[in-house]
Amino acid sequence: MEIIITDTPDEVARVAADIIAGVVRSRPDAVLGVATGSSPGATYQRLAKLSAPSALGRVDFSAVTVFALDEYVGLPAGHPESYAAVVSREIVRPLGIDPANAHVPDGSAADADAAAAAYDAAIAGAGGIDLQLLGIGRNGHVGFNEPSSSLSSRTRVKTLAPQTRADNARFFDSPDQVPVHCITQGLGTIGDARRLLLVAQGAEKADAIAHAVEGPLSSRWPASILQLHRHATVVVDDAAASGLALADYYRSVQEFKPRVA
Ligand code: F6R
Repeated sequence: MEIIITDTPDEVARVAADIIAGVVRSRPDAVLGVATGSSPGATYQRLAKLSAPSALGRVDFSAVTVFALDEYVGLPAGHPESYAAVVSREIVRPLGIDPANAHVPDGSAADADAAAAAYDAAIAGAGGIDLQLLGIGRNGHVGFNEPSSSLSSRTRVKTLAPQTRADNARFFDSPDQVPVHCITQGLGTIGDARRLLLVAQGAEKADAIAHAVEGPLSSRWPASILQLHRHATVVVDDAAASGLALADYYRSVQEFKPRVA
């Protein structure tokens, strides 16, 4: 696992956006897995600037396909906080992605289990995910794989943890409007991506980051699955890195990283 510790939250976004831009430059029809929530917001804003027609060394997202990590179950169609709406508003439109190439689990399907299975099939049909961008919950979830999620789980319906519902209440008018259920890519689904990139900012993520990066592999801290992946990168600011026992080592690895000519 590569751990990149930055001085500021802005730097997290710059580093993450550069990694994603590099993937799209080398493969213009890349398949990206995208997270919603606050953590990747500044990364998307930077990518939007890089995709602007006037940008120097412009990155073209018009042939890129995106798959969202998750979706709430039971929100009315078009609800502004549905992840379908968020992905469209914060990713698809600003980056110039073809809406036909944007996929979000169907949280209003009459048969949610079938919708979840169809989602995994759609990811496989697209050739798999080249890079999956992740945030992390304070309880260590990735996607909405809450503690106790099977480490080999596939996309399925999950029940949100009370802490997750409380944390996401800021997006809704009242806490009881936060849905109880979601469809989320499974930990096995996420682990199938060819590259994982997790971003986290702020001291409230420090405990989860410490468990994910340095704790034992455990469904108690689902993000610890990154330890199993061959190409996982964690980009955190100083505050989110503050619980890492080996932070100085990770900084020195970056300082002495061999540069490829
Ligand atoms: C969102 C998602 C979640 C969030 C996590 C952190 O699609 O899958 O895992 O990444 O809850 O949310 P923020 O970034 O809002 O703190």
